[in-house]
Amino acid sequence: MSEQKYNVLDLFCGCGGLSLGFEEAGYNVLLGIDIWEDALKTYAYNHKHSKTLCADMSTLRGEDVEEIIGDNNVDVIIGGPPCQGFSIAGKRIVNDDRNKLYKGFVRMVEYFKPKAFVMENVPNILSIGDGAVRETIINDFKSLGYTVETKVLTASDYGVPQNRRRAVFVGLTKGNFDFDIPMVAEKVTTKEALSDLPEQSIEDGGKYFVESTSGYQKLMRINSIGVYNHEVTQHNEQTVRIISMVPDGGNYKDLPKEFQETRKVHIAWTRLNSKRPSITIDTGHRHHFHYKWNRVPTVRESARIQSFPDDFIFLCSKTSQYKQVGNAVPPLMAKAIAEQLKKQL
Ligand SMILES: C[S@@+](CC[C@H](N)C(=O)[O-])C[C@H]1O[C@@H](n2cnc3c(N)ncnc32)[C@H](O)[C@@H]1O
Repeated sequence: MSEQKYNVLDLFCGCGGLSLGFEEAGYNVLLGIDIWEDALKTYAYNHKHSKTLCADMSTLRGEDVEEIIGDNNVDVIIGGPPCQGFSIAGKRIVNDDRNKLYKGFVRMVEYFKPKAFVMENVPNILSIGDGAVRETIINDFKSLGYTVETKVLTASDYGVPQNRRRAVFVGLTKGNFDFDIPMVAEKVTTKEALSDLPEQSIEDGGKYFVESTSGYQKLMRINSIGVYNHEVTQHNEQTVRIISMVPDGGNYKDLPKEFQETRKVHIAWTRLNSKRPSITIDTGHRHHFHYKWNRVPTVRESARIQSFPDDFIFLCSKTSQYKQVGNAVPPLMAKAIAEQLKKQL
């Protein structure tokens, strides 16, 4: 007998890192919703079985979504509302306009009454206001009939070569979510993630230069027909000269005094550490560099660090691609959450 597939709605889906993890865990993602057309182009290209909707979640109604998905039940709602709305006054989330994206998520849970929801966000959402924001969120969903568990998860515990941390809220209509999610025995390093990708650009669809050299690289290459999104950034001479002075795993503190203050951010001139998972990658600010090459990681290398497989192809401009990758929930972390949730549905 074929396994039952749970239907999922992905709100604020971006290019679909969270969706991909759920798909890989055997869920059926009906629809991804976002306001950003670039991300939706990538989403549609890579999630051939899901629909997309370009809409503003602050005003979108359940009825509008129902019209698109038809009679399908929604079993799980997933998503990460952008977090600038979570400011507090006293013990309550400020009920102003900036909060309306979070409210959009709550509205969809209220309308569809899924068996479960997974909402992810920045780690400090659990601690701001001494936990007042966390409490308010939990109470909002409690009043809709959900038990809610929360935890900060670290992506590298689930096979992602990156120490990205995300706060996760899981709500269930029956029972309590068990956050005791199986972890990997050994963390994947940036070298294991990237060493088969060359210093220079590869034209989209071009062949790999070398065989894969780690289990992680093998995993990333499954179903891949060639290398995409591996266009190298051309830095100016000064940038190349400065970064060449930073050792594997080092940062601006390793530079001669006169160069230490050339960039005024605490993560300036950081080189990835080849023996560890990566620091959290950003959306393309160019502050972190390859552990070996004197350049920032390409979009493909960034995607590897996020655990997007090589057959997941990013569309639109390079700047947009970096933002799509950097915004995403690492698919392997999403898959670990999705598999754990499936045991309880
Ligand atoms: C952190 S990203 C989501 C990443 C996604 N979960 C993933 O794993 O790839 C947040 C997304 O919210 C979207 N967003 C921001 N404001 C929105 C709005 N008013 N309506 C719908 N989506 C919005 C952004 O375009 C962005 O793609």
